[in-house]
Amino acid sequence: GITRHYDFNVTMANVTRLCATKSIVTVNGQFPGPKIVAREGDRLIIRVTNQAQHNISLHWHGIRQLRTGWADGPAYITQCPIQTGQSYVYNYTVAGQRGTLWWHAHISWLRATVYGPLVVLPRPGVPYPFPAPYKEVPVIFGEWWLADTEVVVEQALQLGAGPNVSDAHTINGLPGPLYNCSAKDTYKLKVKPGKTYMLRLINAALNDELFFSVANHSLTVVEVDAVYVKPFTVDTLPIAPGQTTNVLLAAKPFYPGANYYMSAKPYSTARPATFDNTTVAGILEYEYPDAPSSSAASFDKALPLHRPTLPQLNDTSFVGNFTAKLRSLATPQYPAAVPRTVDRAFFFTVGLGTHPCPGNATCLGPTNTTQFAAAVNNVSFVLPTRALLHSHFAGLSSGVYSSDFPVAPLTPFNYTGTPPNNTNVASGTKLMVVPYGANVELVLQGTSILGVESHPLHLHGFNFFVVGQGYGNYDPVNDPPKFNLVDPVERNTVGVPAGGWVAIRFLADNPGVWFMHCHLEVHTTWGLRMAWLVLDGSLPHQKLLPPPSDLPKC
Ligand code: C2O
Repeated sequence: GITRHYDFNVTMANVTRLCATKSIVTVNGQFPGPKIVAREGDRLIIRVTNQAQHNISLHWHGIRQLRTGWADGPAYITQCPIQTGQSYVYNYTVAGQRGTLWWHAHISWLRATVYGPLVVLPRPGVPYPFPAPYKEVPVIFGEWWLADTEVVVEQALQLGAGPNVSDAHTINGLPGPLYNCSAKDTYKLKVKPGKTYMLRLINAALNDELFFSVANHSLTVVEVDAVYVKPFTVDTLPIAPGQTTNVLLAAKPFYPGANYYMSAKPYSTARPATFDNTTVAGILEYEYPDAPSSSAASFDKALPLHRPTLPQLNDTSFVGNFTAKLRSLATPQYPAAVPRTVDRAFFFTVGLGTHPCPGNATCLGPTNTTQFAAAVNNVSFVLPTRALLHSHFAGLSSGVYSSDFPVAPLTPFNYTGTPPNNTNVASGTKLMVVPYGANVELVLQGTSILGVESHPLHLHGFNFFVVGQGYGNYDPVNDPPKFNLVDPVERNTVGVPAGGWVAIRFLADNPGVWFMHCHLEVHTTWGLRMAWLVLDGSLPHQKLLPPPSDLPKC
């Protein structure tokens, strides 16, 4: 591989959407941020200089960071934030992976505007395991607030309330023609008749899982989370925040005399049905083959538009049917290295809960004496004020974290039945410690406390295999025999089904401290997050590397 250098200057910039201008945090003044392109085996050296009025930290979502946790990025987990006026160099190798990933801010809610694609191409001369597309285009979904998102989250936390929902969803930063005052801000993909395009779909939205579809065109899924899958074709697909999906779209072999919307709207069981009216649209625009471009352009304006039909807001079974189709290639060239045996088995509940409202204050939580919280095994994770990874490395864990994350709920209950009366959760900065090289099995069980919701759980530092999923309560006797240990999908972000569970396995071969959290930012903020500590192995290449000299200090 080669070494590629990028300069990321974090600056404020004025951006106008929906007829209103606000000052946002950006990288190099761009929104969405710049695209990083590398090849498998390359080293990336990204110098981040913070010239904005916010502390910043950047995460390379899905990059494994083998032994280089210092470059992973989540604030207070692997590093202290880069303060205004300071810089930090993220230096890592892209080893053993290729496909669509992305990067984003990993502090507070700054990823609302600070994100971009990270495309890892195969090694030179290595083809895709499917016919090469004519063109490849990143399609990033996001959310736009008219207000400053840092203010949105701060106000919500102070009141113990749910934060305001976004004012628009976006494709490549553009809300599109279905929102007021937004027609000129529409993403257009020009296509040539007869050509195949690969869309690199990335869901960078803060709080919404999405359905995506292109009118009158089917989509062939070939990769998720930068891992190839057995191809299958759908009209509509779900994609959760944190996930990426590559699809092939075959343009019609003739000039169709029409243009087509590509649209996305939320999948949610938590929003009121009236929320079903927010839809971002971009346009798939056919290039007129023969005419001079000016007359084609005026002709195109008159073309009718076709709109796709998207599922209902709360169509959980649509999502379940789609995810059940995902399979690894599991070929000699792209094997599925599923752990066949388990050294450490864990059972984590994930869901919402409450904290009592502090003092005599009135909160705007689920009741006026409670505020919203969220937890894993009833522990609402508190971010430390010093970075966990360095505390571990320097042997200074005392007062920063404890190593007693519960392996299973302390008080089992009917997770998907009537919730317990007391919904309060505990707080703490607890880590789950596993030895180097352990085969880990983790069952993530959704709860029905304060609503039945899907949670896209993201694990840093690893890919994992999704060996099983189901609705209701996980059954430790009857479910494991049905696990797929042959060709389960391998990914870095998995939806814990609304009212259900998912089982994952991974090999703990990456020493360091690794964040795991719901990629719905509101749930992360409320505490639906925890961290793993994978210990060093005994051999030199099984140890965490020492920190770089410019690692930021808290
Ligand atoms: Cu994409 Cu911890 O995040």
